[in-house]
Amino acid sequence: MLDQLQPHSAVLQAVAPLTADDRLFLFLSAEPISATPGQFVEISIPGVGGFPVSPCDLVKGKQIYSCIRKAGRVTSALFELEVGASIGLRGPFGNGFDLSQCVNRDVLLLAGGLGIAPLRALLAALLKTEQHRQLILLFGAKTFSALLFRDELVKLAKAHKLKLLLSVDDDEGLSHVTTDHPCRVGLVTSLLDELTLQCKMTTAVVSGPPALYRGALEQLATLGLPPERIFATLERRMRCGIGECCHCVTGGVYLCQEGPVFSLEKIRTLEGALE
Ligand SMILES: Cc1cc2nc3c(=O)[nH]c(=O)nc-3n(C[C@H](O)[C@H](O)[C@H](O)COP(=O)(O)OP(=O)(O)OC[C@H]3O[C@@H](n4cnc5c(N)ncnc54)[C@H](O)[C@@H]3O)c2cc1C
Ligand code: FES
Repeated sequence: MLDQLQPHSAVLQAVAPLTADDRLFLFLSAEPISATPGQFVEISIPGVGGFPVSPCDLVKGKQIYSCIRKAGRVTSALFELEVGASIGLRGPFGNGFDLSQCVNRDVLLLAGGLGIAPLRALLAALLKTEQHRQLILLFGAKTFSALLFRDELVKLAKAHKLKLLLSVDDDEGLSHVTTDHPCRVGLVTSLLDELTLQCKMTTAVVSGPPALYRGALEQLATLGLPPERIFATLERRMRCGIGECCHCVTGGVYLCQEGPVFSLEKIRTLEGALE
C-alpha cells in the first residue's frame, strides 16, 4: 500500500475528453494501489499543489482512472499536463462504500452530474461480484452532453445488467440528438416516480452536489427505505482530504477520515452536513 503521507511518483498515462470541462485521466502509479469504490486518493502536481479525487473504475494494480472536472488552480494545471508527465499520488483514504450492504438486495444508485464518477466504480464492483438483486441507476445532469459515460451505461442497460433512467434539467439540444435510450426533462429525483421499490430489500447510494442530497436523501426515506441503508458520499465539503485543514469537520466528525461515505442515519446527526 502507498505510504499515507509521502507522495509516490506516478505518471499521467492517458487522457480522454468527456465534456468541455471533464476529462477521463489514467494515472500509472509506481507502486500497486488497492482502493475500494468510494475511497479517494490525493493527486499532487509538483510546484502547484494537490487535490483529492475518487477513482471512477476498479483500481487494477498500478492503474487509476479518474474523471476530473477543471474546477480551479490545481485541476487546471493538471489539464495542461502532457501524457507522460510526472505527478504525485497518495492514498487511498476514507472508508468507501460498504459492498456487504448490497448483497441480496436491490441496489438503487442515484447520481447527479459528476457524482456519477465514484458510482461508476461502485457499479463496476457490483457487476463483478454479482451478489445484488436488481441494479437500478437514476442519473441526471444539466444537459444531454453532460451525461458522462452515457454510451457505456446504455450498453449495460441493453445487456440487461442495469435498469437505467436518465434525466436532464435543460431540454436544450435534446430534440437534435437521436437518443437510443429515453431521457426525461426534469430533476433526477423525479425519476423515482417511475419505480416501484421493494423498500425493505433496497440499499440506496446517492452521489452528487449538496442540493441533490437535500432533496433525495429524505425523499428516499419518505418512500420507506431504512435511513441506515441510504448512503451518500459527502466529498463536497472537503479541501485537503487528509485530516489536516479541518475544513470538513462537521458535528465534530472529520468527514474525510470517517467518511466520505455516510448513511442517512449518521448524516442526520451531523449538523450542517448537507449545507
Ligand atoms: C473525496 C473527494 C473525491 C472527489 N472526487 C472528485 C472526482 O472524482 N472528480 C473531480 O473532478 N473532483 C473530485 N473532487 C473534487 C476535487 O477535489 C476539487 O474539484 C479540487 O480540489 C479542486 O481543486 P482546484 O485547486 O482545481 O480548485 P480550487 O482552486 O481549490 O477551487 C476552485 C473552485 O472549486 C471549489 N472547490 C474546491 N474543492 C472542492 C470540492 N471538494 N468540491 C467542490 N468544489 C470544490 C472551490 O470552492 C472553488 O470555487 C473530489 C473531492 C473529494 C474530497
Ligand atoms: S478535508 Fe481537510 S481535514 Fe478533512
